[in-house]
Amino acid sequence: MHLEISNLYKQFLTKQGPLLALENINLHVETGELVCAVGASGSGKSTLLRLVAGLDQPTEGSITVDGVPIMGPGSDRGMVFQKYTLYPWMTVQKNVESGLKLQGMEAIQRRQRASYYLEMVGLAGFARALPKELSGGMKQRVAIARALACQPKILLMDEPFGALDVQTKEAMQLFLLDLWQRTHCTILMITHDVEEAVFLSQRIYVMTARPGTIQTEVHVELPMPRHYEIKRTQDFLSYKNAIIDRLRT
Ligand SMILES: Nc1ncnc2c1ncn2[C@@H]1O[C@H](COP(=O)(O)OP(=O)(O)OP(=O)(O)O)[C@@H](O)[C@H]1O
Ligand SMILES: [Mg+2]
Repeated sequence: MHLEISNLYKQFLTKQGPLLALENINLHVETGELVCAVGASGSGKSTLLRLVAGLDQPTEGSITVDGVPIMGPGSDRGMVFQKYTLYPWMTVQKNVESGLKLQGMEAIQRRQRASYYLEMVGLAGFARALPKELSGGMKQRVAIARALACQPKILLMDEPFGALDVQTKEAMQLFLLDLWQRTHCTILMITHDVEEAVFLSQRIYVMTARPGTIQTEVHVELPMPRHYEIKRTQDFLSYKNAIIDRLRT
């Protein structure tokens, strides 16, 4: 898997006139990487991810997956949003099956595949529950299972833990790292939380605001697997502070 974004621009036409949301974005993600883009509110993070997801078109530039330009949404890219996007009337199981159903997969296969991924996110016991019976963290684990069930080449995550309280957020970060190591999936995640980016990533793209540009790329050379304690180490704090300083300028 090779995701390549080259010379990407996105301009919106608003009532106040044209608004340049993204300017000359260049980034790449390789197989098995966990990469974060971090930036302040309004730096165009969601816009960037929506373009990669194929939910919107760039004004200029290109996005390719394994050399093939993105023409629209596709099952090679799985998406997880900040807002809970489960279908409230469907059970957890049916939610995880929903993408597979769209692909035309047979019921038996669908059930097996969904069960496998529900097991993987630790929610096998909640297959028959409705989303309203789940906590925020559990809902996001279902959303992740739903995205993974389609076995995408890359998982795109837009502030997936942004709506969670601090404790749940930390637990979900550990969960994601563990899942990433177990499944060897490739992840491009967007966040405004610098600590989260440093904790999770192998590489970080630091974005500036208005228009959104990539200011710098940071390789996070902290050992894996990572646990909470690492957040208190000097190395971790050095990465965090350096990125916060970058965001400020
Ligand atoms: N559909 C749209 N039409 C017009 N302007 C838009 C549209 N979508 C986004 N924008 C503008 O583009 C800029 C970037 O928005 P975007 O939502 O991508 O930022 P963000 O980094 O995700 O912010 P946040 O951290 O608050 O989620 C903002 O100024 C926003 O108002
Ligand atoms: Mg956003």
